[in-house]
Amino acid sequence: MPQIPDNVRGARFIGWGTSLGHTTVTNDDLSKTMDTNDEWIRERTGIHRRHIGGSTAEMSIASGRAAIEMAGIDPLTIDALVLATTTPDRTVPATSATVQHALGLRCGAFDVNAACSGFVYAMITAHGLIAMGSQRILVIGTDSLSRIVDWTDRNTAILFADGSGAAVLERTTGHGQMLGWDLDADGSAEEILYSEVGGFVHMDGKEVFRRAVRIMVDSAQKSMAAAGVTADQLNVVVPHQANIRIITSACDKLGVPMEKVAVVVHETGNTSSASIPLALFGDFGQVRAKDGDLVLMVGFGAGMTAASAVVRWNAQ
Ligand code: UT7
Repeated sequence: MPQIPDNVRGARFIGWGTSLGHTTVTNDDLSKTMDTNDEWIRERTGIHRRHIGGSTAEMSIASGRAAIEMAGIDPLTIDALVLATTTPDRTVPATSATVQHALGLRCGAFDVNAACSGFVYAMITAHGLIAMGSQRILVIGTDSLSRIVDWTDRNTAILFADGSGAAVLERTTGHGQMLGWDLDADGSAEEILYSEVGGFVHMDGKEVFRRAVRIMVDSAQKSMAAAGVTADQLNVVVPHQANIRIITSACDKLGVPMEKVAVVVHETGNTSSASIPLALFGDFGQVRAKDGDLVLMVGFGAGMTAASAVVRWNAQ
């Protein structure tokens, strides 16, 4: 378990933004084209509606621009763009190249694909770049999953949607916000959630569910141990927004009451790389971090990846 050195160059969030697919699709809309219904979807997933439409670059540009504006900085002062996505617009080049140009950045840009753990992977990578001398990094998590969903498959079409969340990280004096982190993957579970190039998502939902709770709890506990904090000290928990039952089960096992948990899945569906920033920064979250709060972010996804981080919120 990596320990952050005491003399590390730390970072903090100075701006953020979000974006959603432009078309709202309700559960009733889906029930017109497949054998499902609003009551089943709400009960089994917690999802009421989702937003689809828009490319990964379009949504990333919108959320990234909002984050830069909130930070009040010149885009030319950003040293790197890290875009977490599992649905790039093209195989080559990386979608981050399109976004870098559109936002007027002059810096390195690359994509990270860690499925639904992607934003936390990207955020931890950005802290590493700042530890090595970068001043400002733009981190974006975006997915346009509606393009890889088979809209006749009720197993997946009810869950997945489109969205984006972005944050500007700036070097700060001292240790900064990151207290502990964990990254994990288990490629032996590849077949339970995958999409071939140009194909649709295939998912063994029950098996993903079973593993998801275990790996979220495991990763969260590793991050908390690295940070030297216990679950009762956490003020806000921001889990991957896949299914409300996965969220409640994992938080119950961690000993975190639901009033501390940011939930937007009812409004957004599962937006993969965008889900954690949408819950942390978006308009639909029930919990907001305040300066001084201890915040746990924890994701899981295809791969099967897991990622978590404990940060001391210090955005002012
Ligand atoms: O980012 C990670 C991405 N993936 C996930 O997080 C997925 C994790 N898994 C899940 O969220 C859940 O497994 C699902 C929501 C996908 C499915 O929920 P479930 O409680 O595991 O349902 P089930 O597959 O056990 O199906 C229960 C019943 C079955 O009927 P019978 O056999 O009991 O009569 C299904 O045929 O519900 C039926 N069913 C549906 N009914 C209406 C399955 N899907 C639907 C549906 N609408 N969409």
